[in-house]
Amino acid sequence: MPQLAQRVGRAKPSAIMVIAEKAKQLKAAGRDIISFSIGVPNFLPGEHVYAAARESLSRDSGQYGSNRGADALLDAFLKHIEALGFSGYTRMHLSIGIGAKQVLYNLAEALLDEGDEICFAAPYWTTYRDIADIVGAKANVLHCGPEQNYKLTPTQLDAALARKPKVFLFNNPSNPTGMVYTAGEIAALADVLAKHPDTWVITDDIYNSMVFDEVGYHNFVFARPELRDRVIFVDSVSKTYGMPGWRVGLLAGPEVVAKAVTTLNSNHITSLPEVVTAAAVAALSGPQDVPRAKCAEFADRRDTVFAALSAIPGVVCPRPQGAFYAFPDISSAFGKSHGGTKINNDVEFCAALLEAKGVACVPGSAFGEPRAMRISYTCPAAQLQPGLQRIQQFFAELA
Ligand SMILES: Cc1ncc(COP(=O)(O)O)c(C=O)c1O
Repeated sequence: MPQLAQRVGRAKPSAIMVIAEKAKQLKAAGRDIISFSIGVPNFLPGEHVYAAARESLSRDSGQYGSNRGADALLDAFLKHIEALGFSGYTRMHLSIGIGAKQVLYNLAEALLDEGDEICFAAPYWTTYRDIADIVGAKANVLHCGPEQNYKLTPTQLDAALARKPKVFLFNNPSNPTGMVYTAGEIAALADVLAKHPDTWVITDDIYNSMVFDEVGYHNFVFARPELRDRVIFVDSVSKTYGMPGWRVGLLAGPEVVAKAVTTLNSNHITSLPEVVTAAAVAALSGPQDVPRAKCAEFADRRDTVFAALSAIPGVVCPRPQGAFYAFPDISSAFGKSHGGTKINNDVEFCAALLEAKGVACVPGSAFGEPRAMRISYTCPAAQLQPGLQRIQQFFAELA
């Protein structure tokens, strides 16, 4: 039998999906399961998005579209990023993909040759590691534990960039930690980036609309406009508008990068469907009430989650300020037992929690931090308190 390509052997199924699958099986078997495991927003966009989609279908051309994205989408995105604080961008600085995930994959293809180095902080979104592995890049993972609030420091970044990696991949607000960098922290990191001109910088900032406590969203190019030649901002309608299934990702960066991604698009996805484009345009340029309301709701939920986790003796939870995740350090449970089951690590902790209490969380090792677990708090509102109480009970029962 012929062999698969070597790169497929390097691709691993997502650990997040493994837990979600187990939770689904238990549910199907009649167990009462509360899922804190999947990072989906769990809300839908406003009616104007569906109206735009229906209207688009009524005049559908049925044809291929632009590899870069339809002009209407590019213009809507330009306005959107201007409102965020980006200025001086044109359509030529933009391109699209089937979700931010595919934009990131395209960027890896466009910027990294086999053996090139890419650096990023841990905890990281699992896909960063997987994409690096698939394209054959060497990942330099910069460990940022709970003791530094899971945030990368300028000193760490400086040391990493001294190795002249081809790409530095940054994520703010963070999945899995919910951490958000302040304007000052971004400016300090931008100063370091300015000293190292050989590295592309990707900012995967798809949770930029979900920032709490008036910290605001900040990008390196706001602090240091000259970095525009090297910084690629990645965005998506998935989380902001509750549209993960519509699969629209976007980037704004140097023209040469936008062109490279557009060329790759011409060789695989070709274009986004017209109906999807129309929905994304409506989301980006229509009323922003849904994302605003959701951001306020998630901030309230963050308070609930943070209070519940902080009340557990031995659990350390750096306070999230964005997205919809919390990432408590649960390592004080390691070495203890629950109902006779010994817990040695994060994977065993999450398995025991799911088995005993029916609460699904994702082991931190999936994100490069085995002392923690990820809680995604977008579940139905009525499940939030009971789920947190079950986690508290689980800890109280450890012996
Ligand atoms: C940090 C981060 N980047 C990118 C993505 C992918 O988003 P999309 O649905 O646009 O592909 C996700 C999805 O969970 C994410 O958490």
